[in-house]
Amino acid sequence: MDSQTPRVRIVMLPKDTNGLGNIFGGVILSHLDLAAGEHARRIAPLRYVTKVMREVEFIAPVKVGDTVSFYTETVKIGSTSITVKVLVTSERGIGKLEAIKVTEAEVVMVAVDADGSPTPIPTRK
Ligand SMILES: CC(C)(COP(=O)(O)OP(=O)(O)OC[C@H]1O[C@@H](n2cnc3c(N)ncnc32)[C@H](O)[C@@H]1OP(=O)(O)O)[C@@H](O)C(=O)NCCC(=O)NCCS
Repeated sequence: MDSQTPRVRIVMLPKDTNGLGNIFGGVILSHLDLAAGEHARRIAPLRYVTKVMREVEFIAPVKVGDTVSFYTETVKIGSTSITVKVLVTSERGIGKLEAIKVTEAEVVMVAVDADGSPTPIPTRK
């Protein structure tokens, strides 16, 4: 990961649960998406849409009260897209925090213009 600091960190609340009492997978996906977008915007502050989310496999459940962290790193900067790897971990516990890996995914963010068409990502000098 590019940093030990997560791009997004959030505490899960009862409003985020599914019928089993665990956190709804779609909630995790939405934060994963936001983390990838935020990562891309730090590379080039453009407008991005999510083109691809690859291989989201949930390894462990997330529970109410867990602190969920989304760490990001750059996989590839293309002409109009940035591929971002996102690692999701969850921490829980009283007295001692235990961190578990929840999932890991690659997200392709495409920079778009005001009409929604792909637009070039400026190369760094
Ligand atoms: C994003 C969008 C504008 C791209 O249009 P497109 O016709 O596929 O554009 P392109 O073929 O020029 O591809 C754009 C970039 O995406 C990449 N890309 C496209 N399909 C890809 C795939 N399946 N896997 C990886 N990268 C892909 C291309 O390689 C290109 O990146 P590069 O310029 O860095 O090489 C269009 O597909 C779109 O609007 N999709 C909906 C996005 C959205 O609304 N997301 C939220 C869902 S609710």
